[in-house]
Amino acid sequence: MIVRRVAGWLDDRLGTNAAVRYLLEKIYPDHWSFYLGEFALYFFVALVATGIWLTFAFDAAGSNAYASTLALADRSHPIGYVIRQVHHWSAVCFVAAILVHMGRIFFTGAFRRPRELNWMIGLTMLALASFTGFTGYSLPNDSLSGTGLRIADSVALSIPLVGRWAAAVLNGDDVFPGRLLATHLYTLHVYYLPVAIGALLSLHLGMLIYQKHTQFTRDPRSVVGRRFWPDYALRTVAVLGATMAVLTLLAALVEINPIELYGPYHPWTATNGAVPDWYTAFLEGALRLGPATELRIFGHPIAPVFWPGLVLPLLTFGFLLVWPFVEPRITGDRAAHDVLDTPTQAPLRLGVGAALIFDGILLTLAAADDQTATALHVRLEALVWAYRILLFAGPVAVGLIAARIGREMRARIVESAVYPSDATTLVRNADGGFDEEEPQPA
Ligand code: HEM
Repeated sequence: MIVRRVAGWLDDRLGTNAAVRYLLEKIYPDHWSFYLGEFALYFFVALVATGIWLTFAFDAAGSNAYASTLALADRSHPIGYVIRQVHHWSAVCFVAAILVHMGRIFFTGAFRRPRELNWMIGLTMLALASFTGFTGYSLPNDSLSGTGLRIADSVALSIPLVGRWAAAVLNGDDVFPGRLLATHLYTLHVYYLPVAIGALLSLHLGMLIYQKHTQFTRDPRSVVGRRFWPDYALRTVAVLGATMAVLTLLAALVEINPIELYGPYHPWTATNGAVPDWYTAFLEGALRLGPATELRIFGHPIAPVFWPGLVLPLLTFGFLLVWPFVEPRITGDRAAHDVLDTPTQAPLRLGVGAALIFDGILLTLAAADDQTATALHVRLEALVWAYRILLFAGPVAVGLIAARIGREMRARIVESAVYPSDATTLVRNADGGFDEEEPQPA
C-alpha cells in the first residue's frame, strides 16, 4: 500500500512509472557468463560499504597510518578486523572478477559494433580499479606499501622531461616520501578514484540497458532470456548473497595483508620475498625482467624502469582500447553484432587473447622469481633469461596453437552442420546383400 502510494506520488511529479515498468520487464540473458559482470558489481558494493566504515577508524596522517591499521589488524577488535579483511578481499576479488568478465566480453566478441564505447569505458574502469587498489594498499605505511610507493616514485621520475614534476606533484615535495604523499593517496583512494569508478559504472550499465544485452541465439530476431521481475531479480539477489558469503568466509578464515608481520616502513629495510597484491604483480615482474641498460635519446638518459614500468602497461592498455576497431579491419567484418560468437568461432581473437593471457601470467610469475628460483634450486639469472625468452616466444607459440585449435573446431562445427551424422548407413540391396551409403549433406 505504502509502495503504491509512493510510486503514485513520484509518477505524478516525475512520470517514473513507465521507466520502472520498462526496467522490470527488461529481458536478461540466461547464460551463466552474463553473471560475471554482476560479481564485479557486487564486489564494488562491498568495497564501498566497508570502505565507508574504515574511513571512521583509519588515521591517514604520517606515522598514525601504521598504528591505526595495526589496531584494526588486531583480532581483539573483531568488527574492525573483519571489516578490514572483507575490504581487502573484495579489492582482490573485484579486479579478478573484472578480468574474468572482460574475458567473456573479449572471447565472445561482445565488444563489437555497437558496443565499442562500453568496452572502452570498461577498460578504463579496470585501470582505475587497479590504481585504486594500489593507492589502498599503500595507505597503511607498512614496509610492503612503502617499498611499492618507492618503486612507483622511481617510475614517475623516469618519465622523460616531466618526470621530476610528476613525482613532485604526487609527493607534494621534491623528496620521497613527500610531505603530502599520504594526503594525496588518501584523497585519491577514498574520493576521486571511487567516485570516478561509480560514475563510469552508471554510464556502463546505462549504456547496457539502452543498447540491450548481446545474446547466444541462432535466430537474431528473437530475444532469449528472463524478465527482470520476478525471475531475474531473484537470481541476481542469489549472486549478491553468494558474493557476500564467499567474502565473509575468506575474511573470517584467511588473513590478508598481515602488516603486523611486515612492520612499519623504513626506507632502509625491504622484506625479502615480498610481493604486491596480485593485479599489480605483472608490473613488478616486468621491472624484474626489463634490461638494466640506460638508453640515451637526444643526449637525455632514460632510466631503465621507464620501459617495463610505464611503456609496457600503456602499450597493452592502448592495444586493448583500439582492439574493437582493429579486429574489423583484419577480418573485414564491420557489421553490428548482437549475437555472440563462441570463442572457437573466431580463431584470430582466440589466438590474440591466449597470447595476452600467457604474457600476463608469465609477468605475474616473474614477480616472484626469487622465490621460484629458491624453490626450484635454479640460478636466478637463468630463470630471468628463461622468462625473457618465453615473454616473446611464448605468446607467438600459444597464440598460433590456440588459433589453430579454433580453426579446427570451427571446421568441425561447419562439417557437422553440413553432414549432421557421419555414420555410414547399410542398405539392403535387391540381391540380399548390403550396400554402404555415405553420409549425405543436410
Ligand atoms: C567495474 C568493473 C565492471 C563492472 C561492475 C561491470 C559490470 C557489467 C555488468 C553487470 C554487465 C551486464 C552483464 C554482463 O554482460 O556480464 C556488463 C556488460 C558489459 N561490460 Fe562490464 N563491467 C565492468 C568492467 C568491464 C570491463 C573491464 C569491460 C571490457 C574491457 C567491460 C565491458 C562490457 C561490455 C562490452 C558489456 C556489454 C556486454 C553485452 O551486452 O553482452 N566491462 N558489465
